[in-house]
Amino acid sequence: MANGAEASRLAVLRDLEILDSPPEEEFDELVRLASYVCKTPISLLTLVDEHRQWFKAQVGLEVSETPREWSFCAHAIEQPEDLFVVPDAAMDARFKDNPLVVGDPNMRFYAGIPLTVSGGRAVGTVCVIDTVQRDLDDEQVAALRLIAQEVEQKIERRARLKRSAIAARDAERKLQESERRFSLLVQSVSDHAIFLLDAQGRIASWNTGAERIFGYSEEEVLGQHFALFYPDDAKRVGKPAEETRLAADAGVFEEEGIRVRKDGSPFWVTTVISAIQDEQGSIQGFAKVTRDITERKDAEERLQAAFKEVIARLSAAAEFRDEDTGRHIERVGRYSELIAQRIGLPEERCDLLRLAAPLHDVGKIGVPDAILLKPGKLDAQEFETMMSHTEIGHRLLTGSSAEMLKLAATIALTHHERWDGAGYPRGLSDHAIPIEGRIVAVADVFDALTSKRPYKSAMPIPEALAILKSSRGSHFEPEALDAFLDLSEEMGAIRRDLR
Ligand SMILES: [Fe+2]
Repeated sequence: MANGAEASRLAVLRDLEILDSPPEEEFDELVRLASYVCKTPISLLTLVDEHRQWFKAQVGLEVSETPREWSFCAHAIEQPEDLFVVPDAAMDARFKDNPLVVGDPNMRFYAGIPLTVSGGRAVGTVCVIDTVQRDLDDEQVAALRLIAQEVEQKIERRARLKRSAIAARDAERKLQESERRFSLLVQSVSDHAIFLLDAQGRIASWNTGAERIFGYSEEEVLGQHFALFYPDDAKRVGKPAEETRLAADAGVFEEEGIRVRKDGSPFWVTTVISAIQDEQGSIQGFAKVTRDITERKDAEERLQAAFKEVIARLSAAAEFRDEDTGRHIERVGRYSELIAQRIGLPEERCDLLRLAAPLHDVGKIGVPDAILLKPGKLDAQEFETMMSHTEIGHRLLTGSSAEMLKLAATIALTHHERWDGAGYPRGLSDHAIPIEGRIVAVADVFDALTSKRPYKSAMPIPEALAILKSSRGSHFEPEALDAFLDLSEEMGAIRRDLR
Protein backbone atom coordinates (compact mmCIF):
# COMPACT_ATOMS: atom_id res chain seq x y z
CA MET A 1 0.00 0.00 0.00
CA ALA A 2 1.46 3.36 -1.02
CA ASN A 3 2.00 6.01 1.62
CA GLY A 4 0.51 9.52 1.22
CA ALA A 5 3.36 11.04 -0.79
CA GLU A 6 3.63 7.97 -3.02
CA ALA A 7 -0.15 7.92 -3.48
CA SER A 8 -0.13 11.52 -4.69
CA ARG A 9 2.87 10.76 -6.95
CA LEU A 10 0.95 7.87 -8.48
CA ALA A 11 -2.12 10.08 -8.87
CA VAL A 12 -0.05 12.66 -10.78
CA LEU A 13 1.31 9.86 -12.99
CA ARG A 14 -2.16 8.49 -13.71
CA ASP A 15 -3.45 11.98 -14.58
CA LEU A 16 -0.78 12.25 -17.26
CA GLU A 17 -2.54 9.40 -19.09
CA ILE A 18 0.74 8.33 -20.54
CA LEU A 19 1.21 4.83 -19.08
CA ASP A 20 0.82 2.10 -21.71
CA SER A 21 0.34 4.68 -24.45
CA PRO A 22 1.80 3.96 -27.91
CA PRO A 23 5.35 5.21 -28.77
CA GLU A 24 5.59 8.88 -29.76
CA GLU A 25 8.28 10.13 -32.12
CA GLU A 26 9.19 13.21 -30.09
CA PHE A 27 10.09 11.09 -27.04
CA ASP A 28 11.86 8.46 -29.15
CA GLU A 29 14.08 11.19 -30.64
CA LEU A 30 15.07 12.59 -27.26
CA VAL A 31 15.95 9.15 -25.94
CA ARG A 32 18.04 8.47 -29.06
CA LEU A 33 19.73 11.81 -28.48
CA ALA A 34 20.56 10.84 -24.86
CA SER A 35 22.08 7.59 -26.01
CA TYR A 36 24.08 9.40 -28.70
CA VAL A 37 25.38 12.15 -26.42
CA CYS A 38 26.28 9.83 -23.55
CA LYS A 39 27.55 7.14 -25.91
CA THR A 40 25.62 4.37 -24.17
CA PRO A 41 24.04 1.31 -25.88
CA ILE A 42 20.88 1.71 -23.82
CA SER A 43 18.77 4.77 -23.09
CA LEU A 44 15.26 4.91 -21.64
CA LEU A 45 12.37 7.19 -20.80
CA THR A 46 10.87 5.34 -17.83
CA LEU A 47 7.77 5.88 -15.78
CA VAL A 48 7.57 4.23 -12.39
CA ASP A 49 4.15 3.15 -11.20
CA GLU A 50 3.17 1.07 -8.20
CA HIS A 51 4.52 -2.29 -9.37
CA ARG A 52 6.69 -1.70 -12.42
CA GLN A 53 8.77 0.63 -14.46
CA TRP A 54 7.30 1.15 -17.92
CA PHE A 55 9.26 2.48 -20.89
CA LYS A 56 7.63 5.24 -22.91
CA ALA A 57 10.70 5.35 -25.19
CA GLN A 58 13.72 3.10 -25.38
CA VAL A 59 16.96 2.47 -27.22
CA GLY A 60 18.82 -0.84 -26.93
CA LEU A 61 16.25 -2.73 -24.91
CA GLU A 62 13.50 -5.00 -26.21
CA VAL A 63 11.22 -5.30 -23.18
CA SER A 64 8.57 -2.67 -22.48
CA GLU A 65 8.64 -2.88 -18.70
CA THR A 66 10.31 -4.58 -15.73
CA PRO A 67 9.21 -5.15 -12.12
CA ARG A 68 9.64 -2.10 -9.93
CA GLU A 69 11.94 -3.94 -7.48
CA TRP A 70 14.50 -4.41 -10.28
CA SER A 71 14.29 -0.77 -11.19
CA PHE A 72 17.32 1.55 -10.89
CA CYS A 73 14.96 4.39 -11.73
CA ALA A 74 12.88 3.68 -8.62
CA HIS A 75 15.98 4.69 -6.71
CA ALA A 76 16.63 7.69 -8.91
CA ILE A 77 13.18 9.16 -8.30
CA GLU A 78 13.71 9.06 -4.57
CA GLN A 79 16.20 11.91 -5.09
CA PRO A 80 14.30 14.18 -7.45
CA GLU A 81 16.81 17.03 -7.47
CA ASP A 82 19.80 14.90 -8.36
CA LEU A 83 21.38 13.02 -11.10
CA PHE A 84 21.46 9.44 -9.88
CA VAL A 85 24.57 7.59 -10.98
CA VAL A 86 25.65 3.99 -10.41
CA PRO A 87 29.14 3.74 -11.94
CA ASP A 88 29.40 -0.01 -11.47
CA ALA A 89 26.35 -1.99 -10.44
CA ALA A 90 28.33 -5.17 -9.94
CA MET A 91 30.22 -3.44 -7.18
CA ASP A 92 27.12 -1.80 -5.62
CA ALA A 93 25.47 -3.65 -2.74
CA ARG A 94 22.04 -2.35 -3.81
CA PHE A 95 22.27 -3.74 -7.33
CA LYS A 96 24.88 -6.49 -7.57
CA ASP A 97 22.24 -9.24 -7.34
CA ASN A 98 19.70 -7.42 -9.55
CA PRO A 99 18.48 -9.71 -12.38
CA LEU A 100 19.20 -6.90 -14.86
CA VAL A 101 22.81 -6.93 -13.67
CA VAL A 102 23.41 -10.65 -13.30
CA GLY A 103 21.36 -11.45 -16.41
CA ASP A 104 20.33 -9.74 -19.63
CA PRO A 105 21.14 -6.91 -20.43
CA ASN A 106 24.03 -7.24 -17.93
CA MET A 107 23.86 -3.63 -16.68
CA ARG A 108 26.96 -2.16 -15.08
CA PHE A 109 26.60 1.60 -15.49
CA TYR A 110 23.44 3.66 -14.83
CA ALA A 111 22.86 7.42 -14.88
CA GLY A 112 19.31 8.77 -14.54
CA ILE A 113 17.69 12.20 -14.19
CA PRO A 114 14.34 12.19 -12.40
CA LEU A 115 11.40 13.71 -14.32
CA THR A 116 9.37 16.08 -12.19
CA VAL A 117 6.00 17.18 -13.53
CA SER A 118 3.14 19.23 -12.18
CA GLY A 119 5.51 20.60 -9.52
CA GLY A 120 5.27 17.34 -7.63
CA ARG A 121 7.48 14.31 -7.16
CA ALA A 122 9.32 12.51 -9.90
CA VAL A 123 7.20 10.18 -12.03
CA GLY A 124 10.09 8.54 -13.89
CA THR A 125 13.47 9.23 -15.43
CA VAL A 126 15.48 9.76 -18.52
CA CYS A 127 18.37 7.36 -18.07
CA VAL A 128 21.35 6.00 -19.93
CA ILE A 129 22.77 2.49 -19.30
CA ASP A 130 25.96 0.73 -20.29
CA THR A 131 27.22 -2.81 -19.91
CA VAL A 132 30.63 -1.66 -18.74
CA GLN A 133 31.69 0.27 -15.68
CA ARG A 134 32.11 3.95 -16.60
CA ASP A 135 31.04 7.57 -15.93
CA LEU A 136 29.69 10.67 -17.70
CA ASP A 137 31.68 13.83 -18.27
CA ASP A 138 30.24 17.24 -17.34
CA GLU A 139 29.07 18.02 -20.86
CA GLN A 140 27.22 14.73 -21.07
CA VAL A 141 25.57 15.38 -17.70
CA ALA A 142 24.58 18.87 -18.82
CA ALA A 143 23.17 17.49 -22.06
CA LEU A 144 21.30 14.77 -20.21
CA ARG A 145 19.77 17.40 -17.90
CA LEU A 146 18.63 19.46 -20.91
CA ILE A 147 17.12 16.38 -22.51
CA ALA A 148 15.31 15.54 -19.24
CA GLN A 149 13.94 19.10 -19.05
CA GLU A 150 12.73 18.84 -22.62
CA VAL A 151 11.03 15.53 -21.84
CA GLU A 152 9.36 17.04 -18.76
CA GLN A 153 8.00 19.92 -20.82
CA LYS A 154 6.75 17.60 -23.52
CA ILE A 155 5.05 15.35 -20.97
CA GLU A 156 3.35 18.34 -19.40
CA ARG A 157 2.32 19.77 -22.74
CA ARG A 158 1.01 16.38 -23.82
CA ALA A 159 -1.04 16.18 -20.60
CA ARG A 160 -2.41 19.69 -21.12
CA LEU A 161 -3.47 18.90 -24.67
CA LYS A 162 -5.07 15.68 -23.50
CA ARG A 163 -6.95 17.49 -20.75
CA SER A 164 -8.21 20.19 -23.08
CA ALA A 165 -9.20 17.54 -25.62
CA ILE A 166 -11.11 15.76 -22.87
CA ALA A 167 -12.67 19.02 -21.74
CA ALA A 168 -13.65 19.83 -25.33
CA ARG A 169 -15.10 16.33 -25.70
CA ASP A 170 -17.01 16.76 -22.44
CA ALA A 171 -18.29 20.16 -23.51
CA GLU A 172 -19.31 18.75 -26.86
CA ARG A 173 -21.10 15.84 -25.16
CA LYS A 174 -22.87 18.20 -22.77
CA LEU A 175 -23.85 20.45 -25.64
CA GLN A 176 -25.19 17.50 -27.58
CA GLU A 177 -27.09 16.35 -24.51
CA SER A 178 -28.51 19.80 -23.95
CA GLU A 179 -29.44 20.07 -27.63
CA ARG A 180 -31.07 16.67 -27.43
CA ARG A 181 -33.12 17.71 -24.40
CA PHE A 182 -34.01 21.05 -25.96
CA SER A 183 -35.04 19.34 -29.15
CA LEU A 184 -37.19 16.86 -27.17
CA LEU A 185 -38.80 19.75 -25.35
CA VAL A 186 -39.50 21.67 -28.56
CA GLN A 187 -40.74 18.50 -30.22
CA SER A 188 -43.18 17.79 -27.41
CA VAL A 189 -44.87 21.20 -27.70
CA SER A 190 -48.04 20.67 -29.66
CA ASP A 191 -49.93 23.96 -29.27
CA HIS A 192 -47.17 26.15 -30.78
CA ALA A 193 -45.45 25.72 -34.11
CA ILE A 194 -41.75 26.07 -33.30
CA PHE A 195 -39.29 25.86 -36.15
CA LEU A 196 -35.90 27.11 -37.25
CA LEU A 197 -35.07 28.87 -40.50
CA ASP A 198 -31.64 29.21 -42.08
CA ALA A 199 -30.38 32.69 -43.00
CA GLN A 200 -32.19 32.41 -46.37
CA GLY A 201 -35.51 31.62 -44.68
CA ARG A 202 -35.51 27.90 -45.51
CA ILE A 203 -37.08 25.61 -42.90
CA ALA A 204 -34.44 23.71 -40.94
CA SER A 205 -36.52 22.09 -38.19
CA TRP A 206 -40.18 21.31 -37.54
CA ASN A 207 -41.98 20.34 -34.34
CA THR A 208 -45.17 18.44 -33.50
CA GLY A 209 -47.07 21.70 -33.02
CA ALA A 210 -46.00 22.94 -36.47
CA GLU A 211 -47.18 19.72 -38.04
CA ARG A 212 -50.51 19.93 -36.20
CA ILE A 213 -51.10 23.63 -36.93
CA PHE A 214 -49.95 23.83 -40.55
CA GLY A 215 -50.77 20.25 -41.58
CA TYR A 216 -47.43 19.56 -43.25
CA SER A 217 -45.12 16.71 -42.16
CA GLU A 218 -41.45 17.40 -41.50
CA GLU A 219 -40.39 15.71 -44.78
CA GLU A 220 -42.74 17.98 -46.74
CA VAL A 221 -41.38 21.26 -45.43
CA LEU A 222 -37.67 20.81 -44.60
CA GLY A 223 -35.63 22.95 -46.99
CA GLN A 224 -38.68 24.87 -48.24
CA HIS A 225 -38.94 28.65 -47.82
CA PHE A 226 -41.30 29.66 -45.00
CA ALA A 227 -43.27 31.89 -47.42
CA LEU A 228 -45.09 28.62 -48.09
CA PHE A 229 -47.45 29.45 -45.21
CA TYR A 230 -48.37 32.97 -46.35
CA PRO A 231 -51.43 33.93 -48.42
CA ASP A 232 -50.72 34.80 -52.06
CA ASP A 233 -51.28 38.56 -51.60
CA ALA A 234 -48.78 38.63 -48.72
CA LYS A 235 -46.26 36.71 -50.87
CA ARG A 236 -46.77 39.13 -53.76
CA VAL A 237 -45.86 42.15 -51.64
CA GLY A 238 -42.83 40.33 -50.18
CA LYS A 239 -44.17 40.15 -46.62
CA PRO A 240 -42.20 37.03 -45.53
CA ALA A 241 -38.84 38.53 -46.55
CA GLU A 242 -39.80 41.86 -44.99
CA GLU A 243 -40.53 40.14 -41.68
CA THR A 244 -37.17 38.36 -41.50
CA ARG A 245 -35.49 41.64 -42.45
CA LEU A 246 -37.24 43.41 -39.57
CA ALA A 247 -36.31 40.55 -37.21
CA ALA A 248 -32.69 40.77 -38.37
CA ASP A 249 -32.65 44.54 -37.73
CA ALA A 250 -34.38 44.57 -34.35
CA GLY A 251 -33.52 41.05 -33.12
CA VAL A 252 -37.16 40.08 -32.92
CA PHE A 253 -40.33 40.67 -34.91
CA GLU A 254 -43.88 40.00 -33.74
CA GLU A 255 -47.16 40.15 -35.60
CA GLU A 256 -50.74 38.98 -35.78
CA GLY A 257 -51.67 37.84 -39.25
CA ILE A 258 -53.14 35.30 -41.61
CA ARG A 259 -51.43 32.04 -42.62
CA VAL A 260 -52.55 29.21 -44.87
CA ARG A 261 -52.70 25.53 -43.92
CA LYS A 262 -51.68 22.69 -46.22
CA ASP A 263 -55.38 22.20 -47.12
CA GLY A 264 -55.51 25.84 -48.29
CA SER A 265 -57.59 27.15 -45.39
CA PRO A 266 -56.51 30.54 -44.01
CA PHE A 267 -56.31 31.07 -40.25
CA TRP A 268 -55.22 33.69 -37.74
CA VAL A 269 -51.87 33.43 -35.95
CA THR A 270 -49.59 35.35 -33.69
CA THR A 271 -46.01 34.84 -34.68
CA VAL A 272 -42.64 35.78 -33.20
CA ILE A 273 -39.49 35.68 -35.33
CA SER A 274 -36.18 35.88 -33.44
CA ALA A 275 -32.91 36.38 -35.26
CA ILE A 276 -30.10 33.93 -34.44
CA GLN A 277 -26.72 35.65 -34.63
CA ASP A 278 -23.16 34.39 -34.25
CA GLU A 279 -20.62 36.09 -32.00
CA GLN A 280 -19.73 38.55 -34.78
CA GLY A 281 -23.40 39.54 -35.06
CA SER A 282 -24.01 38.05 -38.47
CA ILE A 283 -27.35 36.33 -39.01
CA GLN A 284 -27.21 32.54 -38.88
CA GLY A 285 -30.94 32.01 -39.14
CA PHE A 286 -34.24 32.58 -37.37
CA ALA A 287 -36.36 30.89 -34.73
CA LYS A 288 -40.06 31.16 -35.41
CA VAL A 289 -42.85 30.52 -32.91
CA THR A 290 -46.38 30.60 -34.27
CA ARG A 291 -49.65 30.15 -32.41
CA ASP A 292 -53.02 29.44 -33.96
CA ILE A 293 -55.42 32.08 -32.55
CA THR A 294 -58.46 31.12 -34.62
CA GLU A 295 -60.50 30.35 -31.50
CA ARG A 296 -59.64 33.67 -29.89
CA LYS A 297 -60.45 35.55 -33.11
CA ASP A 298 -63.76 33.72 -33.42
CA ALA A 299 -64.60 34.60 -29.83
CA GLU A 300 -63.68 38.24 -30.49
CA GLU A 301 -65.82 38.29 -33.58
CA ARG A 302 -68.75 36.73 -31.73
CA LEU A 303 -68.35 39.30 -28.98
CA GLN A 304 -68.14 42.11 -31.53
CA ALA A 305 -71.23 40.81 -33.29
CA ALA A 306 -73.11 40.54 -29.98
CA PHE A 307 -72.06 44.10 -29.14
CA LYS A 308 -73.35 45.39 -32.47
CA GLU A 309 -76.56 43.48 -32.01
CA VAL A 310 -77.11 44.95 -28.54
CA ILE A 311 -76.59 48.42 -30.03
CA ALA A 312 -78.98 47.68 -32.88
CA ARG A 313 -81.63 46.37 -30.46
CA LEU A 314 -81.17 49.37 -28.19
CA SER A 315 -81.67 51.80 -31.06
CA ALA A 316 -84.62 49.74 -32.26
CA ALA A 317 -86.17 49.98 -28.79
CA ALA A 318 -86.42 53.74 -29.25
CA GLU A 319 -87.33 53.45 -32.88
CA PHE A 320 -90.25 51.04 -32.64
CA ARG A 321 -92.16 53.60 -30.64
CA ASP A 322 -92.68 56.17 -33.37
CA GLU A 323 -91.70 54.61 -36.70
CA ASP A 324 -93.44 52.37 -39.16
CA THR A 325 -90.24 50.46 -39.50
CA GLY A 326 -87.00 49.86 -37.65
CA ARG A 327 -85.10 50.11 -40.93
CA HIS A 328 -84.95 53.92 -40.50
CA ILE A 329 -82.03 53.61 -38.11
CA GLU A 330 -80.18 51.22 -40.39
CA ARG A 331 -80.61 53.54 -43.35
CA VAL A 332 -79.36 56.55 -41.39
CA GLY A 333 -76.26 54.49 -40.53
CA ARG A 334 -75.63 53.65 -44.19
CA TYR A 335 -76.27 57.20 -45.50
CA SER A 336 -73.95 58.63 -42.86
CA GLU A 337 -71.19 56.16 -43.69
CA LEU A 338 -71.39 57.05 -47.41
CA ILE A 339 -71.29 60.79 -46.74
CA ALA A 340 -68.30 60.36 -44.42
CA GLN A 341 -66.46 58.33 -47.06
CA ARG A 342 -67.22 60.97 -49.68
CA ILE A 343 -65.88 63.72 -47.42
CA GLY A 344 -62.76 61.64 -46.87
CA LEU A 345 -62.97 60.65 -43.18
CA PRO A 346 -60.67 57.76 -42.26
CA GLU A 347 -62.00 54.28 -43.06
CA GLU A 348 -62.19 53.31 -39.40
CA ARG A 349 -64.19 56.44 -38.53
CA CYS A 350 -66.65 55.73 -41.35
CA ASP A 351 -67.14 52.21 -39.94
CA LEU A 352 -67.80 53.56 -36.46
CA LEU A 353 -70.21 56.12 -37.85
CA ARG A 354 -72.29 53.44 -39.59
CA LEU A 355 -72.64 51.67 -36.20
CA ALA A 356 -73.11 54.78 -34.03
CA ALA A 357 -75.49 56.83 -36.19
CA PRO A 358 -78.47 54.47 -35.62
CA LEU A 359 -78.36 55.47 -31.92
CA HIS A 360 -79.06 59.14 -32.71
CA ASP A 361 -82.64 59.00 -31.42
CA VAL A 362 -82.15 56.57 -28.55
CA GLY A 363 -83.14 59.40 -26.16
CA LYS A 364 -86.74 59.10 -27.42
CA ILE A 365 -87.01 56.30 -24.84
CA GLY A 366 -87.39 59.16 -22.33
CA VAL A 367 -90.13 61.01 -24.25
CA PRO A 368 -93.78 60.18 -23.29
CA ASP A 369 -95.87 58.33 -25.90
CA ALA A 370 -98.46 61.11 -25.80
CA ILE A 371 -95.93 63.46 -27.32
CA LEU A 372 -93.92 61.01 -29.38
CA LEU A 373 -96.98 59.48 -31.06
CA LYS A 374 -99.14 62.61 -31.23
CA PRO A 375 -100.64 62.79 -34.73
CA GLY A 376 -101.00 66.58 -34.80
CA LYS A 377 -98.67 69.50 -34.31
CA LEU A 378 -96.81 69.73 -30.97
CA ASP A 379 -97.38 72.80 -28.80
CA ALA A 380 -94.38 74.74 -27.46
CA GLN A 381 -94.19 72.76 -24.22
CA GLU A 382 -94.50 69.45 -26.03
CA PHE A 383 -91.85 70.45 -28.51
CA GLU A 384 -89.53 71.33 -25.63
CA THR A 385 -90.02 67.82 -24.25
CA MET A 386 -89.46 66.33 -27.69
CA MET A 387 -86.20 68.26 -28.10
CA SER A 388 -84.96 66.77 -24.83
CA HIS A 389 -84.41 63.41 -26.63
CA THR A 390 -81.03 64.77 -27.72
CA GLU A 391 -79.81 65.32 -24.17
CA ILE A 392 -81.45 62.19 -22.80
CA GLY A 393 -79.68 60.17 -25.52
CA HIS A 394 -76.41 61.89 -24.73
CA ARG A 395 -76.74 61.11 -20.99
CA LEU A 396 -77.64 57.53 -21.78
CA LEU A 397 -74.59 56.98 -23.95
CA THR A 398 -71.97 59.09 -22.16
CA GLY A 399 -69.25 57.56 -19.97
CA SER A 400 -68.36 54.51 -22.02
CA SER A 401 -64.73 53.80 -22.94
CA ALA A 402 -65.89 52.28 -26.25
CA GLU A 403 -65.13 54.62 -29.17
CA MET A 404 -68.36 53.69 -30.84
CA LEU A 405 -70.49 54.69 -27.83
CA LYS A 406 -68.53 57.91 -27.34
CA LEU A 407 -69.30 58.79 -30.96
CA ALA A 408 -72.96 57.78 -30.55
CA ALA A 409 -73.24 60.11 -27.52
CA THR A 410 -71.88 63.00 -29.60
CA ILE A 411 -74.28 62.27 -32.43
CA ALA A 412 -77.30 61.93 -30.11
CA LEU A 413 -76.53 65.38 -28.73
CA THR A 414 -75.75 67.20 -31.98
CA HIS A 415 -77.87 65.70 -34.80
CA HIS A 416 -80.48 68.47 -34.47
CA GLU A 417 -77.99 71.32 -34.45
CA ARG A 418 -78.07 73.50 -37.59
CA TRP A 419 -75.18 74.96 -39.58
CA ASP A 420 -76.65 78.48 -39.08
CA GLY A 421 -76.97 78.05 -35.29
CA ALA A 422 -80.78 77.80 -35.23
CA GLY A 423 -80.87 74.15 -34.10
CA TYR A 424 -81.11 72.51 -30.70
CA PRO A 425 -80.32 71.70 -27.92
CA ARG A 426 -77.31 74.04 -27.71
CA GLY A 427 -77.66 76.27 -30.74
CA LEU A 428 -74.17 75.33 -31.97
CA SER A 429 -73.22 76.52 -35.44
CA ASP A 430 -70.65 75.95 -38.13
CA HIS A 431 -67.64 73.86 -37.17
CA ALA A 432 -68.60 73.98 -33.47
CA ILE A 433 -70.95 71.13 -34.44
CA PRO A 434 -68.93 67.90 -34.62
CA ILE A 435 -68.55 66.60 -38.18
CA GLU A 436 -70.48 63.42 -37.36
CA GLY A 437 -73.41 65.49 -36.05
CA ARG A 438 -73.41 67.52 -39.30
CA ILE A 439 -73.41 64.37 -41.37
CA VAL A 440 -76.18 62.60 -39.42
CA ALA A 441 -78.32 65.77 -39.62
CA VAL A 442 -78.43 65.43 -43.43
CA ALA A 443 -79.02 61.69 -43.34
CA ASP A 444 -81.73 61.90 -40.67
CA VAL A 445 -83.74 64.64 -42.37
CA PHE A 446 -83.57 62.95 -45.76
CA ASP A 447 -84.83 59.71 -44.24
CA ALA A 448 -87.57 61.45 -42.22
CA LEU A 449 -88.82 63.25 -45.36
CA THR A 450 -88.90 60.07 -47.42
CA SER A 451 -90.58 58.01 -44.66
CA LYS A 452 -94.25 57.68 -43.75
CA ARG A 453 -95.14 58.90 -40.26
CA PRO A 454 -98.38 58.84 -38.21
CA TYR A 455 -99.03 62.40 -39.24
CA LYS A 456 -97.71 62.38 -42.86
CA SER A 457 -97.09 60.26 -45.91
CA ALA A 458 -93.67 59.54 -47.50
CA MET A 459 -92.28 62.30 -49.75
CA PRO A 460 -90.89 61.28 -53.18
CA ILE A 461 -87.10 61.33 -53.31
CA PRO A 462 -86.73 64.25 -55.83
CA GLU A 463 -88.90 66.48 -53.66
CA ALA A 464 -86.95 65.55 -50.56
CA LEU A 465 -83.67 66.34 -52.35
CA ALA A 466 -85.06 69.72 -53.38
CA ILE A 467 -85.90 70.54 -49.77
CA LEU A 468 -82.43 69.52 -48.64
CA LYS A 469 -80.84 71.71 -51.34
CA SER A 470 -82.90 74.70 -50.23
CA SER A 471 -81.42 74.34 -46.76
CA ARG A 472 -77.79 74.29 -47.96
CA GLY A 473 -75.79 76.61 -45.69
CA SER A 474 -78.75 77.22 -43.36
CA HIS A 475 -79.79 73.89 -41.86
CA PHE A 476 -76.99 71.85 -43.42
CA GLU A 477 -73.28 72.23 -43.77
CA PRO A 478 -72.65 72.78 -47.50
CA GLU A 479 -69.87 70.18 -47.70
CA ALA A 480 -71.87 67.40 -45.99
CA LEU A 481 -74.94 68.19 -48.08
CA ASP A 482 -72.99 68.33 -51.36
CA ALA A 483 -71.44 64.97 -50.55
CA PHE A 484 -74.93 63.60 -49.97
CA LEU A 485 -76.30 65.11 -53.18
CA ASP A 486 -73.35 63.75 -55.16
CA LEU A 487 -74.38 60.35 -53.91
CA SER A 488 -78.14 60.80 -54.29
CA GLU A 489 -78.44 57.79 -56.58
CA GLU A 490 -76.73 55.52 -54.06
CA MET A 491 -78.87 57.02 -51.29
CA GLY A 492 -82.02 56.38 -53.31
CA ALA A 493 -80.92 52.77 -53.78
CA ILE A 494 -80.42 52.35 -50.04
CA ARG A 495 -83.84 53.90 -49.43
CA ARG A 496 -85.41 51.32 -51.76
CA ASP A 497 -83.38 48.36 -50.47
CA LEU A 498 -83.95 48.96 -46.78
CA ARG A 499 -87.69 49.45 -46.82
FE1 LIG B 1 -83.67 63.07 -33.46
